[in-house]
Order: sequence, then C-alpha cells, then structure tokens
Amino acid sequence: MSYEAIQVETHGKVGLIRLHRPAALNALNDQLMDELGDALQKFDADEGIGCIVLTGSEKAFAAGADIAAIVDHTYIDAYKSNFITRNWEHIRRVRKPVIGAVAGFALGGGCELAMMCDFIIAADNAKFGQPEVKLGVVPGAGGTQRLPRAVSKAKAMDMCLTARMMDAEEAERAGLVSRVVPLDKLMTEALDAATVIASMSLPTVMMIKDAVDRAYETTLSEGVLYERRVFHSVFGTEHQKEGMKAFLEKRKPVFK
Ligand code: CAA
Repeated sequence: MSYEAIQVETHGKVGLIRLHRPAALNALNDQLMDELGDALQKFDADEGIGCIVLTGSEKAFAAGADIAAIVDHTYIDAYKSNFITRNWEHIRRVRKPVIGAVAGFALGGGCELAMMCDFIIAADNAKFGQPEVKLGVVPGAGGTQRLPRAVSKAKAMDMCLTARMMDAEEAERAGLVSRVVPLDKLMTEALDAATVIASMSLPTVMMIKDAVDRAYETTLSEGVLYERRVFHSVFGTEHQKEGMKAFLEKRKPVFK
C-alpha cells in the first residue's frame, strides 16, 4: 500500500508515523485511517521494530474527524459502515508500545487518537479538546470514556460539555500527558524515549503494556492476579536470565 495521508520512517528500531494532511490540519478521513492502520500493522509485525511513534505536524497532531467527509452522513450510513470502529481501532490492536508525540491541536478524534496511544509526550504548544458538542455531535472514538479515565470526571465533563481546550501544562497536571517539552525538542524526546523502549526485551515490553492496559479493564484484585501470572511467566524467558545476570555482572544486558 502506498501512502499519501501519512509519512513513514524508521529510526533504528523505532517506527515513526507522521499524519500528513497539512491542508486540513490532519483531519482524519477514511484514507488516512486506512493508511495508518496498514502502517501500524506493518510495524507491529516487523521483527526489527521495538516501538512506534505517532505524530502530526507542529501546528496539528489532528484536528479531529474530517467534518467535510461526514457532514452528509445519515444514521444508516454511520451504522452500516460501523463508522469509526471500522478503521479507528487498529491502533488498539497494536501489541508494541505506541508513543503519541503531540504538537498543536489534538481535537475531537485527534484527541481520541492521541489517547489511544500508550502514552503522550506533548510539545508546549499542544492543545487538547473534545469540541464535538459545538458541532451538535458527541465524541465518537472514546472521548467520553478515555478522557475521564485520564483526567478525572470533572475535567472530562468540563472539556466535553464546554468544548474548551486544555493546554499542555494543564494536560500534564491532569495526567493526560506524561511529559511536556519545548516544541523544537518534541521529536528528539519522543524518538529517544522510543529508542530506550526498543532497546529493552520486546516480549517483556509487550507484557508490561498488556498488564498496564488490564488495569483499565478489570478489578484491582483480578488485575493484580493477571500481573502475578505474567510475572511468573517471565521466569521462563531467557531475557529474565540475561537481564538479571547482566545486573549482577555489572554489564549492560543484551536482549536477543
Ligand atoms: N475537518 C475538516 N477540515 C478541517 C478540520 C476538520 N476537523 N479542522 C480543520 N480543517 C480545515 C479547515 O476547514 C481549513 O480548511 P480551508 O483552509 O480549506 O478552509 C484548514 O483545515 C485550516 O483550518 P482553520 O482555517 O480553521 O485553522 P485555524 O488555525 O483558524 O483553526 C482549529 C484551527 C481551531 C483546529 C479549527 O480548524 C477547528 O476548530 N477545527 C475543527 C475541530 C473540531 O471540531 N474537531 C472535531 C471534529 S468531529 C470528531 O472528531 C468526531 C469524533 O469524535 C471522531
């Protein structure tokens, strides 16, 4: 598949995907979402890739679903095509870590896409929002569900009901993003973080991602039991032996 609405690069063991519809502030249409799904699946299947970074431009990560593409949708169109679920959930099926590197606007589906990443590193010009209410619609790609889990019910209600944008500083305070960095350092910081992750044991990293995600799907006691079982299983891997022996031998581990 050749890409027009995204750009794809590799940096060592890191796969970088850049949303690229500059004329529409990376508004998310079917073409972009299909290409994104294809690129994510390819990086996920690529043995040489250990972590993926998803980014946009300096002005916009993504300004939401492409309003022009959906303005005339009917209920039946949306229902029959399973609008959004069809090609928006690919990112949740990726088993390797995905870092969202967000600069500029992350609005509506753009904020929701960023929240589907495993964590977000934001540039200091980032703005997050769920402005769907102004369009007479509700968030449709997880905004009403992931935002309260990330920033509390109070802030999620405030953002979804008033459509106000949250700047990067507030987003970090509220727990929506893991770090805020100057705009000109965003890609270095995100690629460095991804390179660190990609240098770890890939199966271990995937198990950690799985276990943290489980925290959002289950009770504490079930989640802790799940973690315990995964923890037991790592003693069956060579990577546990290598990681622990390397520590005791005061050298860097080599995870093959
Ligand atoms: N869909 C389609 N086109 C969009 C777009 C979108 N979501 N957002 C921006 N664009 C287009 C604009 O129409 C404009 O195109 P033209 O130059 O051809 O007129 C171009 O991108 C630049 O946008 P602006 O001129 O508006 O730029 P600005 O800097 O003045 O404003 C902005 C930036 C505040 C992000 C503003 O563009 C905006 O409010 N965009 C819409 C944001 C929005 O409502 N997103 C939610 C979409 S619905 C959704 O996402 C549902 C869901 O849950 C999945």
